[in-house]
Amino acid sequence: LKNFILFQDLTTDELERVADIIYNESYDKNEIIFWEEDRGDAIYIILDGLVKVFKTNDQGREKTLTLLSRGEFFGEMALLDNSLRSASVKAIKPCQLLIIERSKFKSLVAQYPAISLKIIAILSQRLRKANQQIQNLTFKSVRERLEDELKELAYKYGSEHKRGTLITKKITHQELANLVGTTRATVTKILNQMMENNELLIKDRYLILLD
Ligand code: CMP
Repeated sequence: LKNFILFQDLTTDELERVADIIYNESYDKNEIIFWEEDRGDAIYIILDGLVKVFKTNDQGREKTLTLLSRGEFFGEMALLDNSLRSASVKAIKPCQLLIIERSKFKSLVAQYPAISLKIIAILSQRLRKANQQIQNLTFKSVRERLEDELKELAYKYGSEHKRGTLITKKITHQELANLVGTTRATVTKILNQMMENNELLIKDRYLILLD
């Protein structure tokens, strides 16, 4: 538990108390963990895997808010503000999750200021990122947003390639559109332009950002 940011500053005794109330669940790839507007009954910490946090509109279009991986947590908001789930969460790789049920989480937060302060710090980071997204959606073109997203994916999942950086996570045009906030057709058009300009190469469905 000590390796998880949420519990980093706890003493051994405190960690033992947390270990007593935490349990484990597995989710398959593409399994929904919960839907937006569900009642929130637990917080989840990612032991292994990758999840997508997203919102959908009435026409079924999706906007990915963020991807979260090992060590990160989700599902705290509905517990802290006593509201419904603010977004849906889906496993996009097989996931092992640690779960703390609502009332136990609330007493942990009340009892251990170290945990509360960590949550506040991470919520602040997420708000910063959300503000940046608002700024980008307001002022940047779709092409600039797509380029930023590709750079971020290269930073997170990149491996060196003789002609640039290979993004090791396979990602569909639809998934890129959901991250950037546009349509699949626009993503395909821009990626084609980038390939014509020698900025991008696609090999076996992997994207390579050229130097
Ligand atoms: P909750 O509202 O309970 O359920 C959805 C969860 O997704 C939410 O708690 C947060 O944990 C997470 N979440 C929602 N919006 C964001 C965001 N912009 N960045 C990171 N995580 C988020």
